[in-house]
Amino acid sequence: MCGIIGYTGKKKAMPLLMQGLKMLEYRGYDSSGIALAGQNEFKVYKKMGKLENLEAIVPRNAAALSGIGHTRWATHGGVTDANAHPHAGYRGKAVVVHNGIIDNYLELKQELQGKGANFLSETDTEVIAQLVEHYLVDQKMTPENAVLTTLGRLEGTYGLGVMFADHPGLIIGAKNGSPMVLGLGDKEVFLASDASSFAGLTRQVVYLQDKEIAILKPESWETRNLRNEAVFRNAEELTWNHEEAKKGDYDHFFLKEIFEQPQSVARAFGQGGRLVPEYGTAKLGGLNLDKREFFDIERVVFIGMGTALNAAQVGARMMESWARLPARAEDASEIRTGNPIVERNTLYFAVSQSGETADTIASIHEIQEKGGRVLGIVNTVGSSLARMCNGGVYIHAGPEISVASSKAFTNQLVVMGLIALFMGRMRVLSLTQGQAIVKEFGELPEKLQAALGCRSQIMALAKKYRNAKSMLFLGRGIMAPLAMEGALKLKEISYIHAEGYAAGNLKHGPLALISPEVPSVFIVANSQNLDRVVGNMAEVKARKGPVICVSNIDTPKLRNLADDLIIVPETCEELAPVVAALPLQLFAYYLAMELDRDIDRPRNLAKSVTTE
Ligand code: M6R
Repeated sequence: MCGIIGYTGKKKAMPLLMQGLKMLEYRGYDSSGIALAGQNEFKVYKKMGKLENLEAIVPRNAAALSGIGHTRWATHGGVTDANAHPHAGYRGKAVVVHNGIIDNYLELKQELQGKGANFLSETDTEVIAQLVEHYLVDQKMTPENAVLTTLGRLEGTYGLGVMFADHPGLIIGAKNGSPMVLGLGDKEVFLASDASSFAGLTRQVVYLQDKEIAILKPESWETRNLRNEAVFRNAEELTWNHEEAKKGDYDHFFLKEIFEQPQSVARAFGQGGRLVPEYGTAKLGGLNLDKREFFDIERVVFIGMGTALNAAQVGARMMESWARLPARAEDASEIRTGNPIVERNTLYFAVSQSGETADTIASIHEIQEKGGRVLGIVNTVGSSLARMCNGGVYIHAGPEISVASSKAFTNQLVVMGLIALFMGRMRVLSLTQGQAIVKEFGELPEKLQAALGCRSQIMALAKKYRNAKSMLFLGRGIMAPLAMEGALKLKEISYIHAEGYAAGNLKHGPLALISPEVPSVFIVANSQNLDRVVGNMAEVKARKGPVICVSNIDTPKLRNLADDLIIVPETCEELAPVVAALPLQLFAYYLAMELDRDIDRPRNLAKSVTTE
């Protein structure tokens, strides 16, 4: 969603801020802006629409050595130039960029208007700027105290960057529920919501924690808590490489990330380092539970949103199959708004690519508050979720830039599979069974590479079905959540309406939608469900619905029914969704290409959804 970049140092700030904003574009935004520091003033430039609109109005050779920038994804107030960030106090003394939502902004706004403040926008953020300015000017506070006093009045979430007309070079950052990270260079400091915004400029980072502020000057930085006490934090080294966040020869990040999956999946099992063939199990440092504690677990719950929730559904089935432990997946937003029953011997896993999804974070708070133990299955190292959890396993997908998730999904499946194998070996799986599963994991990269070979077949399919207004995705057992994921991918980037169902549900409603204009995509694995799915395909064909089938088994039963059959390599049933995911991702991609969509930045969506 919104993104923040700030810079103070010895270089010209403007190009660095623009570059940072470009790196943040993937998060989703509808306006952007920059404030540049001058002598006893700052200049604000902001524009709705794409970054090119902002680039057209910022002075190319601005001499400022510090500044703050923002990409906004509208929440409070429409998409207008006035509502774009930065927002300044009406006397031009403080200027603010903000991610998050201030719940009590209306009360604060009325109070400030009563004191004469003139508001120019409809945003909640503007009250922060006006309040800081009030303490600075009317109460003659230092910038640090003005910010700290303001934070004490705010209810809600924030990642903040504040600059001051009379203190060029000074930026104050703050965090509560929205990520903020400092990037440390040589006599220069960056402040950002996402380390990718200063990628290639420094690898030394400091992650700010909730209810902390950071005071940035060109030659120094420090962190304090809200009581203004110093908090000592060590710099950490960024784990991923700048090149990974570039498109290379691909037209879109989404396509690049699809094609990276043979390598990224290998990273998920540590290029073999997380597999123990000798004992037929997985080795996962970071779970922070000893074997006796694992024995006490009676239930497993995987929690996530969107693609991570679909992955969680697959993970729950893997856990039940391999570990014979009752397992389920839960929508984080529903946990958050309900009153979850947290049981003593239940182990919770938070599944998230970004580690910053507000609903997932809120649900984890709620479970931890009730005494539950939560482990993370997270991609972004150092993210809020990774830090909140009582341990966990990084999925090592590398930076995922496209809004639509691909490699994070398959890596989430692999990591949940490793956990299920590990727990399965402690409970019910024999050594021989474990060794056979380890072998299947090891063969995945090669099979994924082979599955990508369906690209030209899928390109032709996309041309054939480009006029479809709606599609159904259907699968049984472990393929049912993959059907949901196939539908989510398609609607997300092509804007074609799509629904995913467990195929058994077809006759209970969705069958009414079937017509020659509504294709159905069946996802089939070689399993005991095969004949039942074939029966569902026949039901669709009998009603003249076009049938596309993605299968890891090539049999006449499918050939006779499917209009289009895509064969992927066979693997054990539990890992079949990892391989079958690739043609579905490619199908969404090439249909979106046919329809000329903004594939990496689909309308209305954000890469990481940081508000509930
Ligand atoms: O960062 P997270 O994995 O927590 O994000 C969860 C969802 O917002 C995300 O998977 C979303 O559904 C994707 N855009 C789907 O492609």
